[in-house]
Amino acid sequence: RIQGDSQNTKPVAFTLKHTDPGSKARAGVLQTAHGEIGTPIFMPVGTAGTVKGVHQRELRNDVDPDVILGNTYHLFLRPGMEILEAAGGLHPFMGWDRPILTDSGGYQVYSLSGTRKIKEEGVKFQSHIDGSRHLFTPERVMELQRSIGADIIMAFDECTPYPCDYRYAKRSMDMTHRWLDRCMAHLEEAPPLYGFDQLFFPIVQGSVYKDLRKASAEYIANAGAPGNAIGGLSVGEPAEELYGMAEVVCDILPAEKPRYLMGVGTPANLLECIALGVDMFDCVMPTRNARNGMLFTSEGTINIKNKKWEADFSPLDPMGHTFVDTEYTRAYLRHLFAANEYLGKQIATLHNLGFYLWLVREARRRILDGTFAGWKSEMVQKLDKRL
Ligand code: GUN
Repeated sequence: RIQGDSQNTKPVAFTLKHTDPGSKARAGVLQTAHGEIGTPIFMPVGTAGTVKGVHQRELRNDVDPDVILGNTYHLFLRPGMEILEAAGGLHPFMGWDRPILTDSGGYQVYSLSGTRKIKEEGVKFQSHIDGSRHLFTPERVMELQRSIGADIIMAFDECTPYPCDYRYAKRSMDMTHRWLDRCMAHLEEAPPLYGFDQLFFPIVQGSVYKDLRKASAEYIANAGAPGNAIGGLSVGEPAEELYGMAEVVCDILPAEKPRYLMGVGTPANLLECIALGVDMFDCVMPTRNARNGMLFTSEGTINIKNKKWEADFSPLDPMGHTFVDTEYTRAYLRHLFAANEYLGKQIATLHNLGFYLWLVREARRRILDGTFAGWKSEMVQKLDKRL
């Protein structure tokens, strides 16, 4: 049985600690089999069983996230479920004993694979690695996520592109809802493989149409899952659409369950959406942009490849929160990028993840002490600046 189901006798997974008086921001704690997750939280993306360029030891000790994300699509293609099951699941395989959330592939089959065909049964797609052909159905994807053994597993959905016409958005949303029913029916019959509970989160779709978003949020809320996700955003729509849709959906999803906004976003996006009542985020931005030399700081963003840093011997980020921020200079990091050294990408990744985790932890602290709204307004002024 799915934990959090209305007829379930198990304890509730999520506890709200405080709601901000000046906004809809909340601070909470989500209990999982591998430990507690303090919310709001940002989840570093560890697509293929690694947060690219970061040792698990550094991730744990220096970035210190309560939870990381893995991708069913990638792990299915490599190393495959036989290896993951033989290892006892993703936790022991990668040497990470804190919570893991896996995305279902509902986004990756669209964004990464070559040709794909979406039908009621599921999605036929070709691997981006070797072109091999595969079929993902809601049932299959639940099986894959059981084999991976994440603490939080996601429904199989269709992430609609932007722009997307109303007719397509509605038909796709209705299919995502039918797929949700199939995911849940399958999980009823298939207990977790490794002896601990997996929390199942369904996903709201509906593109940028308010009435569809409302209908989807109501359908998803009705499923009675232990947490709920918002998908189909940060796919190219303007920020106002993102905030508008997040607000409509948050106002419908139950307050006593965590809300996860998938694939979002910039530091300012995080603060704005926390203010609307979102509790969980993931995004490749801090890690991917780091590998391109973009650093996020509380004063704005830096392109470390820029010539202007060539002889700047000040610390990377004097206000930073990871060891790299004070142990290395901007000039040194610029040199590493110019010379295309591995260490440059590693340093930039640690810095960015350290910044994102600081940002959500500071937001949490401010929600708890009642100073979030004012702090948020000040911060968003600075975050999008280019230094
Ligand atoms: N990641 C970002 N957006 C989405 C979405 O709409 N669905 C899924 N499954 N993953 C996502």
